[in-house]
Amino acid sequence: RRIAFVGSECYPFVKTGGLGDVMYALPRALVSEGCEVRVILPLYACIHQKYKENMEYKGSFMMDQTADGRSFFVGIMELEMDGVIYDFVENREFFDWGNPYTGLWEDIPKYCFFSKASLAILNYLDWAPDVIHCHDWQASLVPLYLRTKFWATAVGKAKTVLTIHNLRFQGICSIEHLKYWSGLRDDLFDYPVLKHNEAEANMFKGGLAFATRITTVSETYAKEIQTPAFGEGLDAHLRYHSPKLSGIVNGIDVEQWDPAKDTLLAAQYDVDSAVEQKKENKRALQERLGLDQDGRKMLIGLVSRLTDQKGLDLVDAIFPKVIDGNTQVVVLGTGDPRYENAFRWFESQYKGTVCSYISYDEPLAHLIYSGADAFLVPSLFEPCGLTQLIAMRYGTAPIVRETGGLKDTVQPFRGDANEGNGFTFDKYDANLLLDAINQAKTVFFTNRGAWDEMVRRNMRKDVSWEQSAKKYMSVYDETING
Ligand code: ADP
Ligand code: GLC
Repeated sequence: RRIAFVGSECYPFVKTGGLGDVMYALPRALVSEGCEVRVILPLYACIHQKYKENMEYKGSFMMDQTADGRSFFVGIMELEMDGVIYDFVENREFFDWGNPYTGLWEDIPKYCFFSKASLAILNYLDWAPDVIHCHDWQASLVPLYLRTKFWATAVGKAKTVLTIHNLRFQGICSIEHLKYWSGLRDDLFDYPVLKHNEAEANMFKGGLAFATRITTVSETYAKEIQTPAFGEGLDAHLRYHSPKLSGIVNGIDVEQWDPAKDTLLAAQYDVDSAVEQKKENKRALQERLGLDQDGRKMLIGLVSRLTDQKGLDLVDAIFPKVIDGNTQVVVLGTGDPRYENAFRWFESQYKGTVCSYISYDEPLAHLIYSGADAFLVPSLFEPCGLTQLIAMRYGTAPIVRETGGLKDTVQPFRGDANEGNGFTFDKYDANLLLDAINQAKTVFFTNRGAWDEMVRRNMRKDVSWEQSAKKYMSVYDETING
């Protein structure tokens, strides 16, 4: 099978969250299963020179884009890594800014152009995929362009799968803005497709209507988004399209995240050495962050974008109650200044006990996953969540809210049965989060044998892509044969 991935970010070139991890790991897993995979990405200015240097120029052409027929340059730069081919769309006007996302007003034209250029590039390279796998709203016009502008070309026979990583972001703007920049036909701007309300258009909505199949990143989120509470205004649209909607849980790349080989750790470990070696990583983490160096303390980690989605107002509300003489907290993240400042303030109040590292720092993230005992993910909603998977892979117990992928991947601890991976709570309520943290503390301090068993159980848990990659292949096959 030939699969083309289209999305706005991909590790190690550019990553702001889990989408970047999935765009890296799933293609590799599919290649292991025998698929041919190309990944199409924008050539952002922020992509490191060390990757750009190794790219090969594959050609260029002009492509008309806007409603009034303005055309833009499309360059193709290519790179191969471990059997996956990456094609970068070059265009200075759209992509020559620091960050991938620069505000919705600019992002709408940028990703209209990117989606259309992806199809044009596949034709130019004479590489016709069986399936085009599109990710989130940024790539959601691909199915529309395919069926209205490219249907008579080589790429036109491809089927499309559109994956929802996060329904909160949909690409909504005025109808005029999208009409102009997409160059799509007027009749698509009607309610079943791109029309959001009288004045606005919605790119994700249109893509969901036109895609052959829709997937999202966990079974629970697939159900949740069909309800008003999680549907972000598209629940009725998704209920209507539910026959083609399914959930497939994410995995992580178990080579990228491997405590036995991870050179960013102070001490590598496997299942047998975990309990001992994690202490060494905890010590290194305490030293690096200026926390009291005391191996007996329970260390709770949090690595996250600091946004409303992540349940940080719950953490904020109970923070002082989490701090006792035996607990340390490490927060790594950037985002909403409201949360950045709250965590900075807690650090100032509890020097030596709390560290808030307001930054994006991959090496430090590895040290936290390995050196922490427990890991907080109390999200308001969570399509899948990767950090709890990484934490488990590193023998760290997640404390999560039972929503989306968190519910599907973390089973609650049961000491009597020697079962479970972590501590969970259901309603979005700070006191329930506090209860879950206290439950974790109780097991950690009074039943260390059971805790250590859980460390080993978590490390043995299959969080790889293997099973889920096979499920995607079944979805691809259904679109091809259906
Ligand atoms: P989301 O995509 O909603 O942000 P995920 O849990 O799917 O959430 O993925 C988050 C990814 O981003 C993980 O790989 C996590 O380690 C990484 N990450 C988030 N914040 C930071 C940070 N401040 N520094 C380093 N890595 C981070
Ligand atoms: C989104 C979601 C996250 C998910 C990730 C990768 O960013 O917020 O839950 O794990 O996409 O699918």
